[in-house]
Amino acid sequence: MSDMVSIRGAVTARNNAEEIAEASRRLFEKILFKNGITDGDIVNVLISTTADITAFYPARAVREAGHNVALFSCQEPNISGSLKGCIRMMVTAASEHAPRSIYLNGARTLRPDITAAWSIALDGPSGAGKSTVAKLVAKELGITYLDTGALYRALGLKAIRGGVNTHDGAAVEKALASADVKLEYVGGVQHVVLDGEDVSAAIRTPEVSMAASAVSAVPFVREKLLDLQRGIAASSCVILDGRDIGTVVLPAAEFKYFLTASAEIRAKRRYEELKAKGESVTFESVLDDVNTRDKNDSTRAVAPLKKAFDATEINSDGMTAEDVAKFIVDGVKKDL
Ligand code: DC
Repeated sequence: MSDMVSIRGAVTARNNAEEIAEASRRLFEKILFKNGITDGDIVNVLISTTADITAFYPARAVREAGHNVALFSCQEPNISGSLKGCIRMMVTAASEHAPRSIYLNGARTLRPDITAAWSIALDGPSGAGKSTVAKLVAKELGITYLDTGALYRALGLKAIRGGVNTHDGAAVEKALASADVKLEYVGGVQHVVLDGEDVSAAIRTPEVSMAASAVSAVPFVREKLLDLQRGIAASSCVILDGRDIGTVVLPAAEFKYFLTASAEIRAKRRYEELKAKGESVTFESVLDDVNTRDKNDSTRAVAPLKKAFDATEINSDGMTAEDVAKFIVDGVKKDL
C-alpha cells in the first residue's frame, strides 16, 4: 500500500555550475534510491538554495539528468550564520516505505540527530568475502567492525556443546536462553565471549558453521542477538556484516551493500582458508556446505538472506577484496 510522504534532503556545494549540478543530481537520485521510489511516484519536488548558490539552477540539473518531474526552485533569505552553499530538497511522493531523509556532505551537520553515528550494512551469502572486505573498510575509515556471524556461531557452539539437536527450535531455545554472548574489542580486533570464555577461535570450524546456520533460523536466537547488534551500531560508526543487516537489524543504515559471488568461487575461497588453517577438508565437501548453508539462510522463515531494496549489489567474482573495499570506501566518502 502506498502513502503520500514528504522526503527531506540537503547537500552542500561550492558555487560553480558543475559542482551544483553534480550535487543536486546526486542528492535527488539518492533520495529516490533510498526511498524505493521512481519519477512516476513523485508529485512534486521543491528545491531551495542559500543565497550564495547563484551559478546554476539545481532544478535544471535534475531535469537534464532525464527526470521528468514537477520541479520548483527558489532562493532562501540570506540568514546570517546559515550553512554556506546549501541545496535543500523536499520530494512529495507515493511510497510504500517510511520516508528516509538524506543529508550529504556538509549538510550532515544540519541534522546531527540522524547523522552522528552512521552504519554500513554489508550482507550476502557465506564465503562472498564479507568479513575480509569489512575489516579492510573498517581500517580505512577508522570505524568499528562488527562480525555478526560470530554471534550466531557462538550460540551454535553452545548448542553443540550442550548436545542439542540444532534443528529442534524448542530445544535450541531452552539450551540457549541463559547464554551470555558479548563482544569485546582488543586493539580494534573483535573477540566473542560466550559465558565468560573467549571463543573467537573455537567458532571457526565447519561443524560450528553448520550449527550456526541451523540455530540462526530460530526466531528466539535472532531476537536475542538483535539488541546487542543495534546497541553497538547506535553508539558508534560501524560496519556490520551478516545476512539481514540491511533488511532487519538496521533498515535505516546509511550505506548498504549486498556482496555476492558464484557458489564455486565462494567455496574455493573458503576451502583455501580452511586448508591454510590446517583443516583436512575436500573442495567437494566445502562446496556442499556452501550450497546447504545458502539454502538454509535464504529459505528460512525468519529474516531470510535477502538484498535490501536500497542496497547496492556487488558481484565480487572478478574482484579482489581490496577492489571491493575500495568501491565501498569511495561510495561512503562521497557522502561524508
Ligand atoms: O557469516 P558466517 O558464516 O560467520 O555466519 C554463520 C551463520 O550465521 C550463517 O550460516 C548464517 C548465520 N547468520 C545470520 O543468520 N545472520 C547474520 N546476521 C549473520 C550470520
